[in-house]
Amino acid sequence: MLGRGQLRPAASTAEKMIKVDHAGENGAVNIYRAQHLVSLLRAPGLRPELMHFQAHEVEHRQIFADYLARHNIRRCVSYHLCGLGGWGLGFVTGLIGPKAVLATTYAVENVVLEHLEHQTAYLRNVDTDAHHCVSAIIKDEQEHHDHAIDKLDKNSFLAKSLIKIVKYCTECVIRFGMR
Ligand SMILES: [Fe+2]
Ligand SMILES: [Fe+2]
Repeated sequence: MLGRGQLRPAASTAEKMIKVDHAGENGAVNIYRAQHLVSLLRAPGLRPELMHFQAHEVEHRQIFADYLARHNIRRCVSYHLCGLGGWGLGFVTGLIGPKAVLATTYAVENVVLEHLEHQTAYLRNVDTDAHHCVSAIIKDEQEHHDHAIDKLDKNSFLAKSLIKIVKYCTECVIRFGMR
């Protein structure tokens, strides 16, 4: 493995996808981390699953980090920004309470699943390693999504608003990262 200074920028579309996914997973880790922290006060009943989801997101981030390391690729410049944004979103929604926490999970995972579907279709014949990484996380993201949707009115104002915000932020990160 090379030192940070010797790493190269992502070159192919597949490499850029993984670089963006890696940053996105850092966002997800921090959403659940902040929600888990605030849930001590606002949603103690959700703590076990928030911790469970956070553990998944840490694994996902590592899967993409390992790909980047294997190919000597530098991480996305938006990596820390995603972490900070995720933490902020998690903190605010955690303070609002359980409904906002569930709506965030639903919104994030909805956007993520849609995104992963496009990626697997593209990567299948282009980059086996990248395809393997993306495929490896789908089951967990589906679990997070299904868990939230079971307990949530997805047509509520809160869920709809969060979907819009999360979609917009995700699109910005993707557009920025794929340049
Ligand atoms: Fe994830
Ligand atoms: Fe997730």
